[in-house]
Parts: sequence; C-alpha cells; structure tokens
Amino acid sequence: MSDSPSAPSGPDLTLGVVIDTVADGAMTAGHVGDEAVLLARRGDEFFAIGATCTHYNGPLAEGLMVGDTVRCPWHHACFSLRTGEASHAPALSPVACWAVERRDGSVYVREKTVRAPVIRIKSSPATPRRIVIIGGGAAGFAAAEMLRRQHFDGSIVMLSDDSAPPVDRPNLSKDYLAGTAPEEWVPLRDDAFYADQHIDLRLNCQVTALDARSREVSIANGERISYDRLLLATGAEPIRLSLPGMELPHVFTLRTLADCRAIIAQAAKSRMAVVMGASFIGLEVAASLRARGVAVHVVAPEKRPMERVLGAQFGDFVRALHEEHGVIFHLEDSATAIDGSHVTLKSGAKLAADLVVAGVGVRPRLQLAQAAGLSIDRGVTVDEYLETSAPGIFAAGDIARWPDRHSSEAIRVEHWVVAERQGQIAALNMLGARERFDAVPFFWSQHYDVPINYVGHAEKWDALEIEGDIAQRDCVARYLRNGRVQAVASIYRDRESLMAEFEMERGAA
Ligand SMILES: Cc1cc2nc3c(=O)[nH]c(=O)nc-3n(C[C@H](O)[C@H](O)[C@H](O)COP(=O)(O)OP(=O)(O)OC[C@H]3O[C@@H](n4cnc5c(N)ncnc54)[C@H](O)[C@@H]3O)c2cc1C
Ligand code: FES
Repeated sequence: MSDSPSAPSGPDLTLGVVIDTVADGAMTAGHVGDEAVLLARRGDEFFAIGATCTHYNGPLAEGLMVGDTVRCPWHHACFSLRTGEASHAPALSPVACWAVERRDGSVYVREKTVRAPVIRIKSSPATPRRIVIIGGGAAGFAAAEMLRRQHFDGSIVMLSDDSAPPVDRPNLSKDYLAGTAPEEWVPLRDDAFYADQHIDLRLNCQVTALDARSREVSIANGERISYDRLLLATGAEPIRLSLPGMELPHVFTLRTLADCRAIIAQAAKSRMAVVMGASFIGLEVAASLRARGVAVHVVAPEKRPMERVLGAQFGDFVRALHEEHGVIFHLEDSATAIDGSHVTLKSGAKLAADLVVAGVGVRPRLQLAQAAGLSIDRGVTVDEYLETSAPGIFAAGDIARWPDRHSSEAIRVEHWVVAERQGQIAALNMLGARERFDAVPFFWSQHYDVPINYVGHAEKWDALEIEGDIAQRDCVARYLRNGRVQAVASIYRDRESLMAEFEMERGAA
C-alpha cells in the first residue's frame, strides 16, 4: 500500500483522445495538470474521474468496470463513473469528476465538476427521526456516514465503549503497528467530521441494556436514550486464553487503537516476542514486530498457518514467507504458562519473551442482543435486509449472521469490508429502503510485501484448483464444492479477484 498517490502518467487528456482508440468498456489512465484522471467509455458515453482510489491510492485504471462503476483492484471499493461517489466501501470518500466534450472524432477532458451522490431514499413522513448506533467501528461508522450522505437530517447518536473515535482497524496489525503509517491514517475521519455532520459520537460510553419494546437503550451512567431505529454493531472481542500469566503487563491482545499503542510501547523496549496464534492477526502482528527489529516466535496448535481458511499450499507458502523474515514457528504446540520473562509450551520448550501477543481469535459481542431477547444463532440473526428478529433493530458487522445468497447458507464473517458494506446497507434500510445485502464477502491480509485477497466464502471445499505459482507470488486459488466455485484467493492477480467477485454476483443473481 502507498501513502501518497503516484505521479500521474499517460496522456494529457485535455488534448483529446481519438474516440475510435477507446473500445467500449475500456479505461485509459491519463492526467489533467498534475492530477491522475481515468477516462472510461461505456457505449457512446465517456466519463472522466480521479484515477486514484481514496482508500489507499489503488490505481483504478487497473480495476474492473462494471456498468457505470469502476472497482478498485486492491480492496474492491466501488466508484460511480457518473458522480465519483464511493458507492461501496472500503473507500468512503468520492473521487473528483471532470466534464468531457466530444468533438471532431475525439473526446476532450475539460474542467472539474462537482456532482452530488445519488439520493437512494427520499425523506417521507415515515422517515425515522432518531437513529441510535451501538458501536463505533467499521459497521457503525459506515452507517452514520451513509445516513448523512443520504441527507438524513434527524438525530444520529453513536455510542462506543472505545476511547478512540472510529479507526482504520486493519491498519492496527499492519503498517501502523510496523511503524510505517503516519498517525493521520488511523482515524476514519477527523474529530471535526462528527461535529460538522451533527453525529453525536459518545466515546467511553458502554451500553448496558436495550429494550426492544420501549425502544430505549441504557448506558452505564444510568441515562436512557430512545430510538426510532437502532443499529447494533458491537463487533467482536479477542478471546483471552485462560493461562497462568495472561494478566501480566507485557501480555496483550489486539483490537483497539489503545491495544495497538500499548504493544508498540512494549515493543520499543523488547527484544523477544512470542505471538500465540498463527492466523491472520497473529501473523500480521509477527510481520509488524519483525519490521521493528523484534525477534518473533509464533506458537500455534495447527500443523500449518491459515490452512483451515486457505488450504495446505497457501499455509506452507505463508510459513516459508515468515521464516524468510526470521520468524520461528512452534506449530502443533501451545503455551501452558507465561511468567515475567518466558512462555512455557506444552512440548516443554521455554521461550524467552519480553512481549507476548495473543491472536487466537475473537468472539462476537452478543450480550446486549441476547439479553434483549433477539434471535441468536452463533451471531445475531438478520434477514436479507439486515433486520433482526425485533422490528426496527438492525445488526451489521462481526455480530451479524445473514442469509448469504452465494453460498446459500446463513453466514457470519469477520471482514472489514463486509462490516462497512453492511453498515451502509443497514443505513439505507433504516431509512425505509428495502435493499438486500448481497455483496460477495471480501477480505485481504498483508504479510510483508505480499497481499492476499479472498472473495467468497468456503468453510469447506472438495476441490482446490491453483493456477500460477504461489512461491512466485503470482497465483489464484479456487475453492470448489460440488463443482461450484465458493471462494477465490489470490496473490497479485487483482483483476482475476475482481472478475471472480463479479462472476459470483452474477451466479447468485
Ligand atoms: C488488528 C486487526 C486487523 C484486522 N485486519 C483485517 C483485514 O486486514 N481485513 C479484514 O477484512 N478484516 C480485518 N480485521 C477485522 C475487521 O476489523 C472487523 O471485521 C471489523 O472491524 C468489524 O467491524 P464491526 O463494526 O462489526 O466491529 P468493530 O469494528 O469491532 O466495532 C465494534 C464497536 O462496538 C463497540 N461496542 C461493543 N459493545 C459495546 C457496548 N456494549 N456499548 C458501547 N459500545 C460497544 C466497540 O467499542 C467498537 O467501537 C482486523 C481486525 C483487527 C482487530
Ligand atoms: S486502495 Fe482501493 S479499495 Fe483499497
């Protein structure tokens, strides 16, 4: 990922491009002044928008055009070619738009124009006046932002028991933990955003109960807040192993910005770290600690890292990748005790450690939903509109189990993009739209310079087809069940990942 857009290249689009050289459905990267601009053709229409994704500066010209939208190759954000709106997360800010003019067989990019996003749901007497969001994470933030983007002018109260405003959580195990991300990358929006948008964000505010009948939530200071619509987006919390020594000050889990800062502070005075857990977060933490020069041992009960999600071949590759960077694995083993200077393993080994991070999975925070009597099935059960069993209460993100049309199963996942997109759809539906949530699940993970992208959902598969070469970091893996592709993982095959997502959407249509 890159913190600054690359210098614009390609033709000066103000000088014109011969129409016959741009095929229907094609995109060309060029520039206007010093701004990178994407020129796209759809039938006889031409569009010019900013060529750089507002999430992490992905090159949109290398993405996929679908109808009058373009999808970013890196983490699949979607932008409208007509208005520049970031219509689907993880990008939340629009790209700029330029006017285009056709003349004498060429198309010319003209001045910048401002185009308002399409309002998908108009205000009516039935529009709620007071929306309460429990959770200041991916889903909660995306919902609040979408409500205001849709010109909802009622009150939005956002209650979070975190001490920080909504943050870019995936960064907390990657660049920020590695010390390569500036502070300003972390907040999803600066503090002024909440005031400007009249979002009543209350931090350090724990919701203790919710009453679906009287439509009220109670917070820890005794206050009760009423709502017309409620979004439950309480996310997940790290599982804490019950081991002697877990309470020691050099032992951490990672969920919040405060957790991340505490790990960074400890890493600054540490030489040896033990990471418990060899799945995504554990291994991203391992990579980030290596970037800080800390020696890392990874302890996990499985035979191969990530095998359950990605299969044996990816597992072996990921292990070798981390070993190349000096990580030492202790697989098929587990920690039995931690003291001030060591972690003792079941095998009897004793590993020196002045920093210990447990990344052994998370548990959805279901207590409020459970106590309120909402329907629960290893998550909060929601329908295709993300509404829970209690009318007017919606749920999104890590807690929500929804009917996934692609796998034909009710699934719950812990993915950033899914949480944000669910927040966006829940926002529209709280305003009275009836939009199904039918995005194909997507997640990414980053290890050193290797990104792994994954679309779909395959808890089990009966065939795995790998094209390309994993070791060469150029591959796409398809996970099939009964001959049908359930999920696709890839390394540096971004267009194929986007195509796979599109095919899955069409397959379920
Ligand atoms: C370090 C890290 C790295 C990750 N990297 C990736 C990645 O690379 N790719 C990917 O796809 N996913 C990644 N994830 C997962 C992703 O961050 C989650 O799936 C996503 O944050 C879920 O969003 P959410 O809104 O459901 O929950 P969260 O973002 O966890 O937000 C939940 C919010 O609810 C609040 N809350 C909970 N209970 C209460 C209560 N009773 N009262 C008040 N507030 C409450 C919490 O304080 C928090 O603000 C990562 C997660 C972590 C921790
Ligand atoms: S950089 Fe475009 S979606 Fe992340």
